[in-house]
Amino acid sequence: MSNALRRVSPLLRPLQRLSIRTFSALRRLLNRSGHWIDDRPRLARWVYPREDADLAADYGAFNGQMFADFHEHERMLSDRPRMAFYRAAITRHVHAGDHVIDLGTGTGILAALASRAGAGEVHALDHSEILDHARTLAQANGITNITFVSTHSTAFTLDRRVDVILHEQMGDCLFDEAMVTNVSDLRKRLLKPGGRIVPSCFDLFCEPIQIRDERVVPFLWDLDVPGYDYSSLERSRPQDPRYYRLCSTDRNLVAHYLGETAPALSIDLHTADDSTLPSELRVVRTVTRPGRLDGYAVYFRARVDDDLSLDTGPLSPGRAPHWGFRILRTDTRQLALGDRLELHLRVERWSDLDTWRWSTDVTRAACSV
Ligand SMILES: C[S@@+](CC[C@H](N)C(=O)[O-])C[C@H]1O[C@@H](n2cnc3c(N)ncnc32)[C@H](O)[C@@H]1O
Repeated sequence: MSNALRRVSPLLRPLQRLSIRTFSALRRLLNRSGHWIDDRPRLARWVYPREDADLAADYGAFNGQMFADFHEHERMLSDRPRMAFYRAAITRHVHAGDHVIDLGTGTGILAALASRAGAGEVHALDHSEILDHARTLAQANGITNITFVSTHSTAFTLDRRVDVILHEQMGDCLFDEAMVTNVSDLRKRLLKPGGRIVPSCFDLFCEPIQIRDERVVPFLWDLDVPGYDYSSLERSRPQDPRYYRLCSTDRNLVAHYLGETAPALSIDLHTADDSTLPSELRVVRTVTRPGRLDGYAVYFRARVDDDLSLDTGPLSPGRAPHWGFRILRTDTRQLALGDRLELHLRVERWSDLDTWRWSTDVTRAACSV
């Protein structure tokens, strides 16, 4: 350092300190307001605009790649409750001579079941490279009335309407594989009036749960680590919504539901489309099995007839094992018999879990402390 600089540097130091403080305060402010904006999906969308078409294209590319791989299909095809459900549903609801579209045919299994149930003609669509294998498989199995079409369903056209749309487009949280968007698009353009969608009726569940004690993983700031206190980290709660969602297929994770289960939302794909889905849900439960609230389990049930359904609930005896259920994490609370829980779920786009936000209110039963 030159002598001249050495002489003025003590004068600069307060200025330097001031600017360091100002910049770190500014950084903190930007950070906080970024989180504040991220936490409000509608505002975030306005501040960082993205076209729906971009989102759909991103999702389509991701989905197409995911299902190009054999492993995803192995998991689905070895899910016995899933396969038994589809076999029965197709046997009952695809009739001789029907003209059928199989939306997202994968290895072609639903199209093949429809063909064997007597369908006259089947159009099997898929946007993934798995379709080449579906074609080979149908040939190897002697099935000749399936036309395989390599396309995204929204780009598919036909010169006449069909009797049946078959699909398996359910994500873990029901909507996260764009089922409603894709099926309603085909329904409007290509299903005959009175035509059938198999499956069409769905219930979404968001149930308060207690996780088994030995399996609980608390938030970092709630941890009980002997001799070391993590509670100060609560100030640094992550803002990324993914941190507050867990995914599991483990039947031994959930100890029990805190209340009686009931659908939080029910839809019928014969009438639903994205515009008919609510942007908010309120799920109210009275505690019938006291315990600790660890979060909400999100899962679904598909219904074809009164005696034919498919269930992915963490405690459902015949749960379809390849679907995960999600846990929306909440702050933990001990709840007594008769306490009332209210989950408030706000959703910007049902197909995008990152736009789900939730909070929960507890009203204590009159006699609980
Ligand atoms: C969950 S897998 C089901 C495969 C098969 N139907 C079965 O039951 O085994 C969904 C399939 O749909 C395809 N898919 C998803 N969305 C699609 C779309 N909009 N158009 C065409 N194919 C789609 C994926 O590539 C994947 O192969």
